[in-house]
Amino acid sequence: MDLTIRPRRLRTCDTLRRMVRETRVSPDSLIYPLFLIEGENIREPIPSLDGQWRYSPDRVCEEIEECMAAGVKRVLLFGIPAHKDACGSSAWDPYGVVQQGIRAIKEKYPDCYVITDVCMCEYTDHGHCGILHDHEVDNDETLRLLAKIALSHAQAGADKVAPSDMMDGRIAAIRNALDENGFKNVPIMSYSAKYASAFYGPFRDAAGSAPAFGDRRGYQMDPHNRREAMKECTLDVEEGADILMVKPALSYLDIIRECSDAFDLPMAAYSVSGEYAMIKAAGKAGLIDEHRVMCESALSIFRAGADILITYYAKELAQAMKQGELG
Ligand code: PBG
Repeated sequence: MDLTIRPRRLRTCDTLRRMVRETRVSPDSLIYPLFLIEGENIREPIPSLDGQWRYSPDRVCEEIEECMAAGVKRVLLFGIPAHKDACGSSAWDPYGVVQQGIRAIKEKYPDCYVITDVCMCEYTDHGHCGILHDHEVDNDETLRLLAKIALSHAQAGADKVAPSDMMDGRIAAIRNALDENGFKNVPIMSYSAKYASAFYGPFRDAAGSAPAFGDRRGYQMDPHNRREAMKECTLDVEEGADILMVKPALSYLDIIRECSDAFDLPMAAYSVSGEYAMIKAAGKAGLIDEHRVMCESALSIFRAGADILITYYAKELAQAMKQGELG
């Protein structure tokens, strides 16, 4: 056969294939989400997230040690408080569960880069991401409290804050509060295009943050929409976000691609609890090779344009990257 162009030529051996790889990944791009629960001496498995644990602040360093050893030096903290109320007041308590966790980690592992999720749903007794007025989340009233939460995280030593509430104007509100209080260099990673997704199910069990009534469609994005993601990202850029995020990841690869092409900021993607739980369950059932599907899924997110990946598989992926299985 007289073929001039043979794409298979570049696939003839592993050494060559590795040389022509278009997507390069590194453990430096990974962030590991971590659940902190109020109390002492707790390390309990999370039933909805096989392989994940909740830690009390006094034991969280056991997990950080594992992360650091695996080459994962960036964590994203979520808090599960003992006390919930209508306005989520334990979220900005200087001795709250996240604030204690930050201090514990930073004291023992100053090189661990600590990011905090800024939201109210784990702290409110109704489970919504803000303050309610007649069963509606009051946007502008909530902004003040989000700024307070972010500031308390920075004061406890957080390196970066990540608001996930989807209120309008939260980036500007948080930026102002940080700047006015001497935290000009604490970056904001915004959950910019966060969709109202069924893939958050296992997380809500893990964090006890399911809404007591209704759903989050009044503030999180409609999965039908693409242009609206651009609008959300544009606003976040204007308000001073340092990193943008698309969430979930696997069902929103088109959005990741489009946003990473359109904006100059680093782009993060959150491969959420439901994505992890599906791969785990299918692997356990013997239907797929969990390890290979984990690698291929992560790769697809980077190939779509993500620079940063938040994933419950961070430690396993870092290991796989070090061994050259993806790289
Ligand atoms: C808080 C928050 C959620 C997730 C991250 N931050 C839950 C939600 O919006 O209901 C989901 C993460 C995951 O599913 O892994 N608002």
